[in-house]
Amino acid sequence: MKKISIIGAGNVGANAAFYIAEKNFADVMLIDIVQGKAKGKALDLMEAAPIRMYDAKISGSDDFKDLAGSEVIVITAGYVRKPHMSRLDLLEENIKIINPIIDEIKKYSPDAIVVVVTEPVDTLSYYVWKKGGFDAKKVVGMTGVLDTTRLREFISKELQVSTADTTAIVLGGHHDYMVILPRYARVEGIPITELLPQERVQKIIKRTREAGNEILSYLKTATAHYAPAAAIAEMAEAFIKDTKRILCVSACLQGEYGIKDLCLGVPAIIGFQGVEKVIELQLTLEEREEFEQSVNVVKKAVATLEI
Ligand code: 2OP
Repeated sequence: MKKISIIGAGNVGANAAFYIAEKNFADVMLIDIVQGKAKGKALDLMEAAPIRMYDAKISGSDDFKDLAGSEVIVITAGYVRKPHMSRLDLLEENIKIINPIIDEIKKYSPDAIVVVVTEPVDTLSYYVWKKGGFDAKKVVGMTGVLDTTRLREFISKELQVSTADTTAIVLGGHHDYMVILPRYARVEGIPITELLPQERVQKIIKRTREAGNEILSYLKTATAHYAPAAAIAEMAEAFIKDTKRILCVSACLQGEYGIKDLCLGVPAIIGFQGVEKVIELQLTLEEREEFEQSVNVVKKAVATLEI
């Protein structure tokens, strides 16, 4: 079995381990610096294996040396927002958490694909990429898979159709200015703009943009974790099984979309080499403007980084 390590055994990390194990495509090493936390969760998850019928092994550790031999490493460690905070408010504190993690990855599994989940995702993906000196194709942020699954769920609810027939594309940063393209939000290939009046399309877009805040407003002391964990498992499966799926991820761009040296949400072909190809969509003038506004938010945050 291939090996996926997940750093941070909190809500997102532990649920991602569970979803990965249930799909049986890799063993999971959960790592958390809080002594006993990852071991306890791993043990609990393994005791569910006979019922849930997975052969994948989930282990837990508080020692980063157990990152060795990982094909994929997922960073979920870090603070999450409290109500009324923006994702960017977490930047300073989460950089302190990410810094030693970058060193440990370099030491124990420098060739692994690194999936950044810690917020603010796009800015921290850039930080991990540059600070770690990693290959651009091997650092990727978990953004669009989460935003598109939310959008797909809202489309299916609105139209009373199966989520299985829905597809969507979300571009730009994972923040309030994410770019949702209605012409690419489809049910069995039909754009939702042909199935719903404009104001209902706009309602769905608004709800998707605010979906993270909506959940935070209910949970208060936690942010969303089941859908983010499912998004991690979806990406990890595409990397490990080399499926070449097209997923929306925060890719480290090197000229695509006219952008160099930023990590941003774009559709990309995902395989064993990491982000194998960024798909460049022909944006309309209006979409391009929206995209640039979204890019600028990330650009500003990246400009504050000291690397
Ligand atoms: C969200 O959108 C946690 O930022 C994440 O729920």
